Amino acid sequence: MNILDHTKINAERHAGKVALVTGGSSGIGLAAAKRLALEGAKVYITGRRQSELDSAIAEIGHHATAVQGDVSKNADLDRVFGLIEEVEERLDILLANAGGGEFAPLGEITEAQFHKYFDINVKGTLFTVQKALPLMSSGGSIVITGSIAAVKAFPAFSVYAATKAALRSFVRTWSVDLRGRGIRVNIVAPGTVVTPAYKTELGFSDEQIEQFMAQTSEITPLGRPGSADEIAGAMSFLASDEASYITATELVVDGGQSQI
Ligand SMILES: NC(=O)c1ccc[n+]([C@@H]2O[C@H](COP(=O)([O-])OP(=O)(O)OC[C@H]3O[C@@H](n4cnc5c(N)ncnc54)[C@H](OP(=O)(O)O)[C@@H]3O)[C@@H](O)[C@H]2O)c1
Repeated sequence: MNILDHTKINAERHAGKVALVTGGSSGIGLAAAKRLALEGAKVYITGRRQSELDSAIAEIGHHATAVQGDVSKNADLDRVFGLIEEVEERLDILLANAGGGEFAPLGEITEAQFHKYFDINVKGTLFTVQKALPLMSSGGSIVITGSIAAVKAFPAFSVYAATKAALRSFVRTWSVDLRGRGIRVNIVAPGTVVTPAYKTELGFSDEQIEQFMAQTSEITPLGRPGSADEIAGAMSFLASDEASYITATELVVDGGQSQI
């Protein structure tokens, strides 16, 4: 469902704000970056593949800037935040969204898979947030991308689920660590949203994607999967001043799937 009706966009919502969206070159991150840019923010995006970053920048417009980097590498994060500091001297909105996962049933999980996804999803998010903090001041907002997998069992997805549960926990403690700084931190938990990751990370065929969408529709009160724009809308809300009294919380955007 495309809710990005440009005639209803509030171009002032994030006016004058500087935003960073990690994993902003595809899927949910790209939708969020587009939305923040349309709503007035100066947007920076990161990702590992330069080709994807280039096409995302063309799609986002609004003078968005791409910085190539891997969130699991601290030297890359230093480069990203070094550039933002040099050009903008501050950061108002951080969407720590880069992440991924692949299927492996218990019994077949490899050490390499464990390290790969804990490094990207957990370590990458932790150091993205920690390195952003010196640039953020009172009024800043951090939104992490979690998943309903943190609380629901999807077969052969335990490593991914555990990384997202760790992020849910981080947000609770970080909200306390940030007490007195005026910086809010929240997590959005998407349900099923078909993005390029379904092929590149999960290895689904078109037929498997259709099947998965049909299954999701059956078990979801709203009767359909979500769209990246619908997740982006929730992220934009949490990033905005309209959410000024919301911190430490999880906003579940899953059509009700995990709530019944
Ligand atoms: N789609 C869903 O159903 C769903 C549901 C719940 C949660 N999520 C979460 O939503 C987030 C976005 O996923 P998506 O579905 O939108 O997938 P996607 O379309 O594959 O987008 C993932 C983005 O993250 C970037 N990325 C991945 N690993 C990275 C790394 N190590 N360093 C920097 N950038 C990295 C990717 O670019 P490069 O590959 O070029 O680095 C891409 O820009 C993830 O955290 C995912 O776990 C998705």
